[in-house]
Amino acid sequence: MRCCRLALLCLSVLPLIAADDLPPGAGSGVVSRICTVCHAVDKIRQRRLSRDGWEDIVDDMVERGAKLTGEEKETVLAYLEENFGPASKLRVNSAPLAEWKAVAGLSVAEARAVLDYRQQNGDFHQIGDLLKVPGVDPRKIEAKKDMFAF
Ligand code: HEC
Repeated sequence: MRCCRLALLCLSVLPLIAADDLPPGAGSGVVSRICTVCHAVDKIRQRRLSRDGWEDIVDDMVERGAKLTGEEKETVLAYLEENFGPASKLRVNSAPLAEWKAVAGLSVAEARAVLDYRQQNGDFHQIGDLLKVPGVDPRKIEAKKDMFAF
């Protein structure tokens, strides 16, 4: 009985995690299905690449064992280009630690502080909310203020 409950718990929690991890949009389901078999979406979210850059990554993943049809590859590339292209914003209410580090330029301690603050206080709604996070250099937030999406 105990193991059944555990299995049910896992089944109910996993889809929630997957849904939260990638910005919604055409192709998010395909990317989530194909690209999270071997690693978390952090690997994707922390990068900002052109379509060509993403194509190199996807080809590399295929060599590593990712399975996708030609049509799925197009869907994946369109999604990645739109959501993680060179100018794609950082979605402050779902970005994982790796994205705060790589894209916003925060230290590990600052990125942790943002995630803790978000967990305790709920979603950020404006730049002022980010500036309130204790332990984060406000100059770093100001410097990137145009690239945050709320
Ligand atoms: C068969 C396993 C597998 C699948 C499926 C897979 N990857 Fe990977 N991926 C890896 C491995 C192995 C690495 C390198 C080790 C690591 O960084 O964890 C990696 C690393 C990465 C990186 C970091 C590389 C870098 O230079 O920044 C990105 C980005 C990435 N994968 C994107 C994707 C995308 C997009 C998909 C879906 C098309 C995908 N992966 C599917 C195995 C896989």
